[in-house]
Amino acid sequence: MRCWPSTGYVAGEMTTPNRQTMDAIVERIQMSFAGAATTLMVHLGDRLGFYRILTDGPATSSELAERAGCSERYVREWLAQQAVVGFVAFDADSGRFELPPEHALVLSEDETPTTFAGGFEALAGMYLSLDRVIEAFRSGEGFGWGEHDVRIPHGAARFFGASYRQHLVDEWVPSLGLESRLEDGAWVADIGCGEGVTTVLLAAAYPESKFIGIDLHQPSIEAARVRATSAGVQERVEFEFGDATSYDGGPFDAILFFDCLHDFPDPVSAVANARRQLASDGVVALVEPFAAADLDENIKTNPPAALHYTASTFLCLPNSLATPGGAALGAQAGPKALAQILTEGGLSSVQRVAATPEHAVYAARPK
Ligand SMILES: C[S@@+](CC[C@H](N)C(=O)[O-])C[C@H]1O[C@@H](n2cnc3c(N)ncnc32)[C@H](O)[C@@H]1O
Repeated sequence: MRCWPSTGYVAGEMTTPNRQTMDAIVERIQMSFAGAATTLMVHLGDRLGFYRILTDGPATSSELAERAGCSERYVREWLAQQAVVGFVAFDADSGRFELPPEHALVLSEDETPTTFAGGFEALAGMYLSLDRVIEAFRSGEGFGWGEHDVRIPHGAARFFGASYRQHLVDEWVPSLGLESRLEDGAWVADIGCGEGVTTVLLAAAYPESKFIGIDLHQPSIEAARVRATSAGVQERVEFEFGDATSYDGGPFDAILFFDCLHDFPDPVSAVANARRQLASDGVVALVEPFAAADLDENIKTNPPAALHYTASTFLCLPNSLATPGGAALGAQAGPKALAQILTEGGLSSVQRVAATPEHAVYAARPK
């Protein structure tokens, strides 16, 4: 049985340590240290606006410190780390640090299809939840999405938002067969909408349609309302505090679950409620973190699963287990378990209609 891909180590077969295997795992550990340390440094630079300032042009540590209103000594240390990991370029002659334009696209921008900054924010939030999670491992109990630091909901919305901007309107809506319906004017519910990134993206793209976003986390609902107003779509978008298993307001032409069904304590009841609230010719769309069929496949073929299992451990399982008897599906439940939830909830014709390295999109319809 292999315990880690590509190190060559086979559990149960080692008699004396193999030098190459040791070197391989040590290299991985060093990469993990660098990644974890860089996560903190990127979040710090993001919070203090360093990347945005560096888009104005190369700067010495004194120039960046002055523009950011920070202490030069600290800024110098941050720049040095960022240069070592290659996030900024250092010119030894001028003493200036530069953020290449391609790096700016992924680090300094927000509300774009290429930004990664929110991922670092969410990871920093997970470090803050560590003690709670250790307690949860011992007790088997959970705690809700709203009990994390605000970096979790906010960072997650920023991080997932990039993928939604890239794929939702141009690829996923057509593959769900929803394009003409949304163009003509549909009534759509976005369940577990968080800060409303998907709801507002859809509302902006389809001016004839109306939307409601529902979520159990009041601060996210408030952030979603601000987002709708900033995008000028507030007349056609409502956001309401509510549980996935008990809202009404149907019949909806489409009910959407983005990165949330596996978080729910009772996903079957959430699907059953969607079934009750769905028009007879409506569609339920389920967008979930991409997962292979099982753990073995994830190990062999799905590198993003390392991030998904971590988010699952820190966020998804605790939220589901905060309710006694929670289903605890986890963020890598996989296609078979998801199809079963959709069918047990009263839907049929479950189909995977799209996939990216991060997400899988399923469509299901009433029986
Ligand atoms: C990972 S976030 C996804 C948010 C948003 N859909 C997105 O993709 O950015 C999961 C969301 O599910 C919400 N949630 C968890 N349990 C819920 C429930 N029972 N009913 C409604 N929303 C719930 C959380 O409050 C959180 O906003």
